[in-house]
Amino acid sequence: YDTKTPQSITSDVNSFANDSVRNRWPVILTQAIDDVHRTVNTLENPEAQAEGKKIIEELGTLKYEVLHDRKLTPIVNDEYPEEVEAYNREIEQRGNPSWLDVPWLFSECYMYRRISTFFSLSTHWKDYDIFARQKMDTFRTSRKAVLELATRYRELVNQLAADKNATHDIEAEKLLFAEFFEICLWGNATDLSLLTNLTYEDIQKLQGSEARKNAEKNILINNLPQAYELLKKAQQDGQTERRVDIVLDNAGFELYVDLILAGFLLASGLATQIVLRPKSIPWFVSDVLPSDFSALLNAISDPKTFFETPSDEEKLQDKTPAPLAGTEEDDLKFVFQHWAQAHADGQLIMRPHRYWTRGGSFWRLPKEAPELHEDLKPAQLVIFKGDLNYRKLTGDAHWDTTTPFTEAIGPLGPGSGVNVLSLRTCKADVVVGLKPGQDEELKALNGQDPNDKARKWAWYGKWAVVCLSQGN
Ligand code: F6P
Ligand code: MG
Repeated sequence: YDTKTPQSITSDVNSFANDSVRNRWPVILTQAIDDVHRTVNTLENPEAQAEGKKIIEELGTLKYEVLHDRKLTPIVNDEYPEEVEAYNREIEQRGNPSWLDVPWLFSECYMYRRISTFFSLSTHWKDYDIFARQKMDTFRTSRKAVLELATRYRELVNQLAADKNATHDIEAEKLLFAEFFEICLWGNATDLSLLTNLTYEDIQKLQGSEARKNAEKNILINNLPQAYELLKKAQQDGQTERRVDIVLDNAGFELYVDLILAGFLLASGLATQIVLRPKSIPWFVSDVLPSDFSALLNAISDPKTFFETPSDEEKLQDKTPAPLAGTEEDDLKFVFQHWAQAHADGQLIMRPHRYWTRGGSFWRLPKEAPELHEDLKPAQLVIFKGDLNYRKLTGDAHWDTTTPFTEAIGPLGPGSGVNVLSLRTCKADVVVGLKPGQDEELKALNGQDPNDKARKWAWYGKWAVVCLSQGN
């Protein structure tokens, strides 16, 4: 059920796929090894220590195989044998490829799935998340933007509560809708798998409201007005249950802004329930696991403790964070209360599914996970956050950039019964839905020859696309 359009492949020297496998994955694996080392050093149980050392070796072997272009080896069976079997079957069907000549999407998913078995097959490290430390630490460094948004959120929620019976101002609501969706969109520019290219400072610059205003012109396709109409119409038609699903991407700041958006949709009455869809294993470094949701809520329930503890970076520089002001603490506690209440009322729920960590694109979703497909249909809108989800929707294929989004997502397009809204900052090669000549213009703007094959403008999260496909 895959697209016939050829997929992005790691052997293509003009692609970000090639750059990723050669330059970024070895760094990600080195960081993972360092993390396990650090934890091993804090352990007292010799059995747990020994297992930790074995995991370090396994990660080292994997890194060696990537660096030396070895073949992808079969994944060892764990408690999800049919998943492992699917990965291993695909390796075989693809002719036992090696790291530098394999479809990018499949090999990257394989890498994280294989890493997960090093932990799942242990006794003492089963639920260990090698990326947890990095995720929380970066959230700490997002303090400025987190506080700015908490103040804005509190103001807005109180205003909406007070205004309930007042005449609804549609124009104002549309503006707020755009503001909160844009916050949520640019939150995706901050994922940790790109930290190998960006510094913490670069990331912080992307998070403030000033930066967001400047970045509006960088949204190349913007279907937010159509998405608004969909939700508004359901509300005006008097549908009592209006659900918005979010297929989550990254933890930390991005999850925080996803929840800000969720809270806005609930408080404005544009949705009555939000379903959050996390990953089940540590994935693409910073993707959300259910435990990240609890960690985030914990952090903001006691913001003083969290934000006054120095980040790793600050520790190195011997810096201590400034104390939180009283109003800052109150604003964050307000945000926590609002989300905790929505969670308790069943308006904000988390629904994991193992399908999100399979190796294929979402072209296969209706066939491979029919019950998940059915579960997505009743939602008014299914928001797919981030770059990886976009690659999975489009099959990570070499589409002509003017191909309509609705065509590039194949079986999840019109007729699928799913209203797909992709919010993505571009961090890969695939892009669809552009105007003729736009790709060439962007290459030139980026200082490249317009005929250059490498689409470098689309690699670093500077540009974004917001694409809607209506399922019916
Ligand atoms: O390009 C860097 C990269 O790691 C890609 O491999 C992947 O598609 C993406 O970033 C992950 O980004 P996101 O968190 O937005 O899905
Ligand atoms: Mg991610």
